[in-house]
Amino acid sequence: MTSESFRKPVRKAVFPVAGQGTRFLPATKAIPKEMLPIIDRPLIQYAVDEAREAGIEEFIFVTGRGKTSIVEHFDTAYELEATMTERGKSLKPLEDSRMAPGSLLTVRQQVPLGLGHAVWCARAFVGNEPFAIFLPDELMVGAPGCMKQMVDAYDKVGGNLVSVLEVPHEEVSSYGVINPGARDGALTEVKGLVEKPKVDEAPSNLIVSGRYILQPEVMDLLATQDRGAGNEIQLTDAMAKLIGKQPFHAVTFGGRRFDCGSKVGFVEATLALALERPDMADEVRAIAKKLLG
Ligand code: UTP
Repeated sequence: MTSESFRKPVRKAVFPVAGQGTRFLPATKAIPKEMLPIIDRPLIQYAVDEAREAGIEEFIFVTGRGKTSIVEHFDTAYELEATMTERGKSLKPLEDSRMAPGSLLTVRQQVPLGLGHAVWCARAFVGNEPFAIFLPDELMVGAPGCMKQMVDAYDKVGGNLVSVLEVPHEEVSSYGVINPGARDGALTEVKGLVEKPKVDEAPSNLIVSGRYILQPEVMDLLATQDRGAGNEIQLTDAMAKLIGKQPFHAVTFGGRRFDCGSKVGFVEATLALALERPDMADEVRAIAKKLLG
């Protein structure tokens, strides 16, 4: 394969949203985690907006039981549009959350066997093209957005890319960690990848943070991937096998990441974004000051 085959444009994105969201129970008993809102937009919409900004044209949601509202969210809502029009209110919030006809595809992951398995479930839609992956519970805030920064890097180096950020060394065991090679600005060569390493065995404190651009060959590797950490089929293990065969880089995201899969991260994101919203920042700051005494 020539290096040109690793540089096809990234038009498709996979959103694995079939997880059970156990850390947010009971909130996530009947509502998908991805529909929990940060202020007035559900997490999934932040990820979709980030994808749109990066030029993604096809959106593939890997869903499961109880996740239908995620798809509904991007549909046309005629009744609401009629009500808003009657009341002379802006249709913008509804228009912003509507997908272009034919651009949203869904596939079911019947059993949540892990992130790697969820991604593999999208193989027929991905076909023979590079594709992006978004984990919507990781909220990436930046200008440009995280995926746009990654696509810009991809245009230079092609191949496979993961977004990374530095964490305190003692926290690495909860994440996928890279073994870093040569560094050039925000771009770091990836020499190895390990999922949830022990602190003293971690090759660095650079963790993979919820955004990926991968070549389609990863699907063949996932097809035969054994279960790894947590007895789940891990995307990290399949990606690790691409290293040495295809270009593989990490992009240090110039922006902020909020881990909205955790309760504290979710509260942090809500507060941080509220303090930046012109329509509420002053009020929220006053409330925060009062609460802090
Ligand atoms: P998490 O590890 O956060 O798992 O998955 P979870 O089930 O969503 O949440 P907790 O830990 O039980 O609270 C990371 C991402 O991978 C997706 C999730 O939906 C989330 O976007 N995922 C995970 C799947 O789609 N399928 C799986 O089998 C596992």
